[in-house]
Amino acid sequence: MADPTPNLQEIHDFLFLLAIRAGSMITSANPTLSPSTQKKNSSDLVTETDKAVEDMVSSSLKAKFPSYSFLGEETSTSGALTPAPTFIVDPIDGTTNFVHAHPYISISIAFAYERRPLVGIVYNPFTQHLYHAIHGKGAFLTAPSIPTSHPPLPSHGESKFEPVLSAYTRTRLPLKSPAPPLQGLKQALVAIEWGNERSGNNWETKTKTFSSLAGDDSTGGSMVHSLRSLGSAALNCCAVARGDLDAYWEGGCWAWDVGAGWVIVEEAGGRVVGGNEGEWKPSVDGRRYLVVRGAEGGQEQMIHEFWGALKGNLEYEQ
Ligand code: IPD
Repeated sequence: MADPTPNLQEIHDFLFLLAIRAGSMITSANPTLSPSTQKKNSSDLVTETDKAVEDMVSSSLKAKFPSYSFLGEETSTSGALTPAPTFIVDPIDGTTNFVHAHPYISISIAFAYERRPLVGIVYNPFTQHLYHAIHGKGAFLTAPSIPTSHPPLPSHGESKFEPVLSAYTRTRLPLKSPAPPLQGLKQALVAIEWGNERSGNNWETKTKTFSSLAGDDSTGGSMVHSLRSLGSAALNCCAVARGDLDAYWEGGCWAWDVGAGWVIVEEAGGRVVGGNEGEWKPSVDGRRYLVVRGAEGGQEQMIHEFWGALKGNLEYEQ
């Protein structure tokens, strides 16, 4: 039977070190494009490294926490989360960036219980920025104090978290405290993503939304400062948690793309709601999300304004 009270600190410390280990597999790989790189279509990619990292992570988790479930991008068929204690893993979030050697990628590992993400770890091994949070304990960015080609790790075993941490500098998120108020959509820098559905209702919803956000008054648009499409949902969430993106909207990504970022955003004072109007309590596997940064004022107004800007567009469907 599953442990009824998961030890979140223990899980966090284990995942922290596991992510750094996985990161060294990613930075030492040399991904190539081949017909087998393609999943659903030519914009939906997987490499041997995605599979090898997921394999290593799932077997390490199984050995340490044998009764917990596992939901991983490369091995799960439905993407649906159950109430059981579950690790939610994207071995490489930003696979397209990875195959193009664009260093905006991360490994994303969340731990969820009763369908709520409670621990989140997102690590970009190229910048060595590790974002992490435990529900109720704040969100942090941790990076080696002295940049190094080999991020500090224990030489044996997995339990030496504290000594390893002393080689890192830890900063609480958001980076600006207090977080400046949100000034509305017109003053916002917003992340959006193209995803891999490139036709049909959801495609139309996306492209109309992009145009509603970016267009000026004469087009009926909100004319945000600008849109960014960076290629990793997990790192987009972390940028919102840091406070250097005001919001991130996407329909079509999965629990493994956002599960870890979700905890990090919420613990940094941000908010995750649904991608369609009125979805105040979205589920982690709901596949359409609006993520808004922490702010001393203006957060709820921003959510209403964002949903208002989507009005008249088609609703994003699962
Ligand atoms: C993708 C990235 C991308 C997002 C897609 C995801 P992957 O994850 O997060 O930013 O737009 O929806 O599928 O496939 O690189 O793990």
